[in-house]
Amino acid sequence: MKKVVISTGGGDAPGLNAVIYAVVHACYRRGWEVYGSRSGYRGFLDYDDMVQLTPKIVEGIYATGGTILGSTNKGSPFNMPVENLAGEIKYVDVSDKILKNFKRMGFDCHIAIGGDGSLHLAQQFAEKGMPVIGVPKTIDNDLEATDRTFGFDTAVSTATEALDKLHSTAKSHDRVMVVEVMGRDSGWIALYSGISGGADVILLPEIPFDMEKVCDKISDNELHEKHYSIVVVAEGAVERGGKVFNKGSGELGREEAILGGVGDYVADEIRKRTGKDTRSLVLGHLQRGGSPTTFDRLLALRFGTAAVRMVEAGIFNHMVALAASQMSSVPIKEAIRSRKKVNLESDKVLTARNVGICLGD
Ligand code: F6P
Repeated sequence: MKKVVISTGGGDAPGLNAVIYAVVHACYRRGWEVYGSRSGYRGFLDYDDMVQLTPKIVEGIYATGGTILGSTNKGSPFNMPVENLAGEIKYVDVSDKILKNFKRMGFDCHIAIGGDGSLHLAQQFAEKGMPVIGVPKTIDNDLEATDRTFGFDTAVSTATEALDKLHSTAKSHDRVMVVEVMGRDSGWIALYSGISGGADVILLPEIPFDMEKVCDKISDNELHEKHYSIVVVAEGAVERGGKVFNKGSGELGREEAILGGVGDYVADEIRKRTGKDTRSLVLGHLQRGGSPTTFDRLLALRFGTAAVRMVEAGIFNHMVALAASQMSSVPIKEAIRSRKKVNLESDKVLTARNVGICLGD
């Protein structure tokens, strides 16, 4: 009999609930108990936020977006902002308390579902002696040690659907539509949705862009009697010699910057330089919402059950991964070493170039 605890950390992604569902069912088949820590590590600090999970509680959740446990990308337990009686903010390390409570509650393993930030925390706890298994989540698909993270396929489908819809309005008005998509410093969402959604221009963080080249493509469309254009811009895309559009952190305990603004910039430049009517929109959190696609559901269910098989086999401090279509595992330490970028020699990039999409270079 084992006792397992799950947490979901960082930005949510479609498929989180499917992982929870899979872990709960796989544990129950083995006669084990499963608990969920609400809002990342909060359940380890306050017992009211630690909930027992049963097949009844997780009924049907594999098909739903978000996370029934809640999530946060603020307040690392190693540097948590706490307000004292005088209203001052002090940063405290509550990791020892979390480890003590983990032991006191009798857990054998913590299954931490998260992206880069949450897996860094999982590694820090592993180093303190907590047996941890990571499950790779992020719509950005930027984790190096797995071929795919769940959430990405759904985000790409949402972005592609949006591009499909924008074609008709762009065409009706002979306009340029600039669409900013998520992805942080990686261009996976922009590249996959841009190719599938018939973009004329895709700007990726991996290729610093030249506004002249972008405008040349729009003028070329005009020459070929295509009077509208669709431009997809990754939020982390950077102009040659320029900087990432960064809105700062702005939220207490949040370490990562909030990106955004490059879409508006690109739209303004296109308007000024080509004289074309241009509109921009930010797809934003729509990409994180909704029901997971079949691909993401299945991947999440596979990850969740593989994680429980790892607990059974005593393989800790590893992250479950997808490698050549199979479930495998890698040490968390290796999984967080670097972020996965778009390979500029890959056939997807070649596909984009071969169908005439401008990549800003
Ligand atoms: O990492 C996932 C992600 O959606 C990024 O693509 C995006 O930059 C960020 O999270 C947005 O974070 P928040 O939900 O805190 O605004």
